[in-house]
Amino acid sequence: MPKKIIIDTDPGQDDAVAILLALASPEDVEVLGVVAVAGNVPLPLTERNARIVCELAGRTDTPVYAGCDKPMIRPLVTAEHVHGKTGLDGPQLPDPTMPLQAQGGVDFIIETLRREPPGTVTLCPLGPLTNIATAFTEAPDIVGRVAGIVLMGGAYFEVGNITPAAEFNIYVDPEAADIVMKSGCNITILPLDATHKALTTRARVDAFRAMGTEVGRMVAEWTDFFERFDKEKYGSEGAPLHDPCVIAWLIRPDLFSGRHVNVEIETVSDLTRGMTVADWWGVTDRPKNATFIGDVDADGFFALLTERLARY
Ligand code: RIB
Ligand code: CA
Repeated sequence: MPKKIIIDTDPGQDDAVAILLALASPEDVEVLGVVAVAGNVPLPLTERNARIVCELAGRTDTPVYAGCDKPMIRPLVTAEHVHGKTGLDGPQLPDPTMPLQAQGGVDFIIETLRREPPGTVTLCPLGPLTNIATAFTEAPDIVGRVAGIVLMGGAYFEVGNITPAAEFNIYVDPEAADIVMKSGCNITILPLDATHKALTTRARVDAFRAMGTEVGRMVAEWTDFFERFDKEKYGSEGAPLHDPCVIAWLIRPDLFSGRHVNVEIETVSDLTRGMTVADWWGVTDRPKNATFIGDVDADGFFALLTERLARY
């Protein structure tokens, strides 16, 4: 039985690959909707990009919603330096023709969780947690109905990527992340500790291109563009495909390993704002509130990703 999921996202080339992986895997996940959030680029672009990706997947039946256009209390920080001005720089992309849903994304999250049987909908945030935290704040009754939250964000041993202490998704809206981490939901975190081990090597990108399909070409060109920043910064062979790790975990959790630990969010200090303080070694008696993933079978991850993307 496929898991019902809502993808909350700020496309972003890696978000785009995550959406394509999900839509290529109907036996594993049923995408109830895609909700855009301001993050990598402003909301008008992330919602546009989400529609472009659904059209590329041939899935204009997947409803796309616009959520929050800024963090809960802080000004928006974006990442054009990584993703380019459009957020999906790399290939030339056609304007989307599928409509944006008129309903707000936060209302869609609330309505869906109230409609679907309790414990049947998994939330998959791939960007700042603003939409999720806003929905929980506006409608506390939905929190207990969430099957689980599987999110890309945070870092512990890998430390930060937008500051020395913080990963981008958490950094942009630390108050939202704090609300989510304290929600009591069943939370699985795919942090940089794991995603930085899922690198797009040349052979892996060539495998995308060798598909000879529009999707394969797009993913290869997105990766070529997206990886330049991380390769220069880390001197690595490729770039981490962060967000598809969330969907891959839902499909093949055996490819990943981690620990159930306490994770709390720094929201006060400017120096460490957005840091995910993971009690990996159990040195406190703070309540364990998340499964923090520390490792991934990268070959297995890319084999799954390539097999599924080749379905298009
Ligand atoms: O830090 C990586 C995360 O920030 C990814 O989700 C990427 O898309 C950006 O949103
Ligand atoms: Ca993202």
